[in-house]
Amino acid sequence: MKKTNRRHFIKQGVASTALAAITGSALSAQATPSQTAGPFYPITPQKDQDFDLTQIDGHTQKALGEVVVIHGQVVDTKGDPIDNATVDIWQANAAGRYNHPHDTNTAPLDPHFQGWAIVQSGENGGFKFKTIIPGAYPVSAEWSRPPHIHFKVSKAGFQEVVTQMYFPDNPLNDVDKLLQSKDAHEQKMMIANADEEQKDRLNYQIVMAAV
Ligand SMILES: [Fe+2]
Repeated sequence: MKKTNRRHFIKQGVASTALAAITGSALSAQATPSQTAGPFYPITPQKDQDFDLTQIDGHTQKALGEVVVIHGQVVDTKGDPIDNATVDIWQANAAGRYNHPHDTNTAPLDPHFQGWAIVQSGENGGFKFKTIIPGAYPVSAEWSRPPHIHFKVSKAGFQEVVTQMYFPDNPLNDVDKLLQSKDAHEQKMMIANADEEQKDRLNYQIVMAAV
């Protein structure tokens, strides 16, 4: 471990311990790490932005790809739930293509994939999306982005979180320049957790720091 990393780690450790002493539990004191929104935030207006990205209103066909349900929760740095946060997500389709005019990937569009959704967190900070696992996509000849979902989470009184959620156990995670630019603890916060009981379910937490 590099010296600077170690120092960062120790600092975090101290902060978490102090917080745990106050609250009596081991909680994260760190907000979800930021990552670039990238160039593909949707710009084409769309009517259907509900939690189910596999089904566009009025379409008889569903999106292509492996369905996954993301059960999320928005919390503050003390671990208390944040209700009424706006959770805005966008992602590539199963072939790795964004529905965006600037995406030059030649992979096919999927006319039945919603690609973009905005929901509010509920009383216990909970939110849910039903979607498909996005495909990896090339950035250059040597670099493919691992499957990821872009998140933008906002709520008055808190710093906006713009980040990317990764899928557990994907080998591309280990060689991704963006994910690997984060330390081990940060990476852990950015990779969703497989659910022990439900195969198609992932659990993911967003931590927001107060302004
Ligand atoms: Fe992306």
